[in-house]
Amino acid sequence: MTGPIVILTGAGISAESGLGTFRDKDGLWTRYPLEDVATPEGFARNPALVHAFYNARRANAAGAKPNAAHHALARLQREHTAGVVIVTQNVDGLHEAAGAEAIHMHGELSRALCATCEARWDAPLVMSPTGRCPECGKAATRPDIVWFGEFPYHMERIWEELRKADLFVAIGTSGNVYPAAAFVQDASRAGAETLELNLEASAVISDFDDARFGPASEIVPAWVEEILGK
Ligand code: OAD
Repeated sequence: MTGPIVILTGAGISAESGLGTFRDKDGLWTRYPLEDVATPEGFARNPALVHAFYNARRANAAGAKPNAAHHALARLQREHTAGVVIVTQNVDGLHEAAGAEAIHMHGELSRALCATCEARWDAPLVMSPTGRCPECGKAATRPDIVWFGEFPYHMERIWEELRKADLFVAIGTSGNVYPAAAFVQDASRAGAETLELNLEASAVISDFDDARFGPASEIVPAWVEEILGK
């Protein structure tokens, strides 16, 4: 039987729930310059633009439902007794909506952060540059999203889980953004088997022991059946 499993998910797992990916054809970064909407410098230049971008993402995510891949991972987390840790780069709440627990290394659309005092609270559906922090009262509120140039959340815990894993699986992520793109190497060095489940080969495909290609809603439930049947 397989021991502890660590799963990394990216935008591809939510694509069939109607949420856009970043780097595919028509992806978000082909339509919005990421330096403008996903960096601290962009926010300093034009906070209204950045809030408008994330307000639109939040509205999309609020209307989205988990798909068969999210449900299959939630089932795996419930039934695989050796433990399943889901680490997601996604800022939507679709793992939780399917009944799973996930570590959000790039933050969450549903949370707000004060750039002055670092207080965090549930984000309203629409945020704006005039919104005030409930703790310190300053108009310095931002989405609780990790931008380029900032350090992802929960890294010590994630690296510890990678060291303990027997199997590391990356699902629907292009392997372009670090440190997540290096998790396969971290897990491999610590002795885990590694598997990529993706629509197309990622930028780091050569680091994986094995790979399966297809839409997440098909290949993830099939893989989960296999693991639980073992
Ligand atoms: P990308 O947009 O870079 O990659 C999406 C991946 O999903 C690609 O490998 C696609 O082949 C795959 N894909 C698309 N549709 C799929 C489907 N139906 N089933 C399975 N796979 C599918 O998204 P990420 O790798 O998640 O960070 O991007 C990583 C980070 O870059 C994001 O968290 C975000 C972004 O900039 C921040 O905003 C900080």
